[in-house]
Amino acid sequence: MNNSAFTIFGGTGDLTFRKLLPALYNMNTTKGPAADRQIIIIGRRDYTTEKYCSIAQDWVKKFSRLPYTDKDFKNFSQRITYYKMDFTNLSSYDQLDEYYKRHDLSQHIFYFAVAPRFFSTIAEGLTNVSHACHGKVILEKPFGADLDSAKLLNIQLEKFFSAENIFRIDHYLGKEMIRNIQTLRFSNPIFSNLWNSRYIESVQISAPEDMGIESRGGYYDASGALRDMVQNHLFQILSIVAMEWPEQLSSTAMHDAQIRILRALRPVKNIRETLVLGQYKGYHQERLVKPNSTTETYAALRLFIDNERWWGTPFYIRTGKKLNRREIKLAIVFRPSFLEKAPQNILIIKIQPSEGVYLQFNIKKPGDTDEIIQAKMDFSQSEYVKRLNTPEAYERLIKACINNNKLWFSQWDQIELSWNFIDKLHELYKWEHLPVFKYEPFTSGPEQADELLNQFGHSWID
Ligand code: BG6
Repeated sequence: MNNSAFTIFGGTGDLTFRKLLPALYNMNTTKGPAADRQIIIIGRRDYTTEKYCSIAQDWVKKFSRLPYTDKDFKNFSQRITYYKMDFTNLSSYDQLDEYYKRHDLSQHIFYFAVAPRFFSTIAEGLTNVSHACHGKVILEKPFGADLDSAKLLNIQLEKFFSAENIFRIDHYLGKEMIRNIQTLRFSNPIFSNLWNSRYIESVQISAPEDMGIESRGGYYDASGALRDMVQNHLFQILSIVAMEWPEQLSSTAMHDAQIRILRALRPVKNIRETLVLGQYKGYHQERLVKPNSTTETYAALRLFIDNERWWGTPFYIRTGKKLNRREIKLAIVFRPSFLEKAPQNILIIKIQPSEGVYLQFNIKKPGDTDEIIQAKMDFSQSEYVKRLNTPEAYERLIKACINNNKLWFSQWDQIELSWNFIDKLHELYKWEHLPVFKYEPFTSGPEQADELLNQFGHSWID
């Protein structure tokens, strides 16, 4: 072990158990770059390290992408220390500093796996820890709850950490097929030459989830689908799908290309032709949800990008909780052929759970006929590339942070632009009293979301 530390604030939370520990376990097992760091788990509960590891063991067993073995876990758990501390108590950071000194730990990565309202308190507390300000900090989304709170948070964090040491996670950027979009687009002339509004009728980003809000009522009820999923994950996908080829493959060039898309999002005028909101029946019975809450658990949007490439092509986005499936899919619907009876070509990038590419095109039906039928070419990468070789999103992102690679992290100006858009959308729909339609759990959501497209002669690709 060396003297570098990976400290997790919020060490007994869901994110740590479900995502971070399994990711770190895998990195340990594959001897990845975090393999010799000490892992300091900060939590309020009265655990010993031994007790914590025995709890962590069950989560790692369940969520690790690599097969669990006692030997690997033992090896991994030797690097874990549970450190009991109330991170909202600023006076407790002196002792944390003592702890680091005693163990000669200095090269820090701090992971804030806590609600964003604690970010600035922890950053302030860390001013009492020697060397902490030269360390890196990884922040979970959401970054703020709206534009104003995000700005404030940014100012507070940049007071303490330098901008290049702040890593804002959007774990969608670690997903294999999201990183594949650029390759698929730009390395295939058959796609790149057609990637514009002249040939593409609509672009659809779908991210339905079958889970409800589970134990996150307090957070979710104040957030809703637009802030929880659209402002960050789905806008990231949108800007990657729509961006121009970045001048170089550097994080700055890539972010600039994405930012140009966010800037070109057409301001919404007609909210009823832009947004459909829904809420699943039974949402009010969820823990910590207000009895009359109108928070949306479903959102469908129709957006436009005002630039030369995308003029006139709608970008449809939909996401929601307690729907009939969990998947993330990107559908590119090409304009119809001049042959009237030929169905439209469709390209689907399957992001999750299955990973791959699906292409629908037309051929002649075999036999003595001129009938046109659809051929469906379905490439499933997840079936032939063993998942063992595909690092989970968190593994990749932690590794990228250690290697100082900012390519797949959200940048502050992206966050600022997307909050700005979502805040305005919020204001407009509140002002216009847009209804929030109820939908039955485990269906495809409110039927008004179909109407949103049907009225323009389009429909969702399922
Ligand atoms: C999180 C959202 O950022 O992403 C959750 O807060 C959502 O509400 C989750 O369930 C979805 O992530 P994934 O990787 O399961 O698609």
